Amino acid sequence: MPPSWEPPEVTLAPPARGPDLALAAACGIRLAPARNQAEWQIVRGALELELRSPVATGDLRIEVGLSSGPIARRLHTARRTDPLPRAIGLPRRQAPPRVVDATAGLGRDALLLAHLGCEVTAIERIPAFVMLLRAAVQGTPLERALRTVRSDAIDWLRTEGSTLGPDVVYLDPMFADEGRAQVKKDMQACRALAGPAADVEELFAAAREVAHERVVVKRHPDSAPLATSPSFVVEGERIRFDVYLRSPSLGTPPR
Ligand SMILES: C[S@@+](CC[C@H](N)C(=O)[O-])C[C@H]1O[C@@H](n2cnc3c(N)ncnc32)[C@H](O)[C@@H]1O
Repeated sequence: MPPSWEPPEVTLAPPARGPDLALAAACGIRLAPARNQAEWQIVRGALELELRSPVATGDLRIEVGLSSGPIARRLHTARRTDPLPRAIGLPRRQAPPRVVDATAGLGRDALLLAHLGCEVTAIERIPAFVMLLRAAVQGTPLERALRTVRSDAIDWLRTEGSTLGPDVVYLDPMFADEGRAQVKKDMQACRALAGPAADVEELFAAAREVAHERVVVKRHPDSAPLATSPSFVVEGERIRFDVYLRSPSLGTPPR
């Protein structure tokens, strides 16, 4: 899919260590000649890589860390009976499902599912998010459970998706009406770099083609479902998950 949005470039700020340079190169991120607070950059912090927004846009600082911070806290308190694991069907299954998170973003949901035992393939088209997520799991027990792919998810689902044959495809696209009240820092970064979700219907259709069991869509509680008649809905505190079970009339997709 040709991108309908030109995201601002994110560079790696010097000085950069060898492993960070290698990871950046693998994600298609170039090393900047100098630290530049007027641009988006990835900076090596004391513990984690940090994504920093231009000072003029609020000087956001985003870390995807598994040892401390909001993601670490979320993983620490995660339960199989939480709304997202329930929506993907985790508590009812003997073996955890194979999940494709087709809109990985900063990986909060993908990390949670991997932490709870799912085999997760996380697809993301913004290189900076791919780099932060790969760096977060590198050398941790989640490295095997979470594979991050830098790609447009519609293309990936149409080409690689049926080979993998996921049980579940999970979608959390950026909705225009999302978070009408206060938007969290990481969501502001997602919005600034990822832009509007112009291809959600196509993404949903591609997900339905390959998901063996279900497609799960995260929605704002006041928003209409992405497609009519979800099979059922799992309500969360500030979000809901619309679950679309695969209709038997569609048959089983190839694996
Ligand atoms: C709302 S964020 C997802 C947040 C994520 N669930 C998390 O836990 O951090 C939406 C993300 O989906 C990505 N995205 C949307 N459409 C995509 C597509 N067709 N292919 C790949 N990534 C896509 C955007 O780049 C953005 O990073």
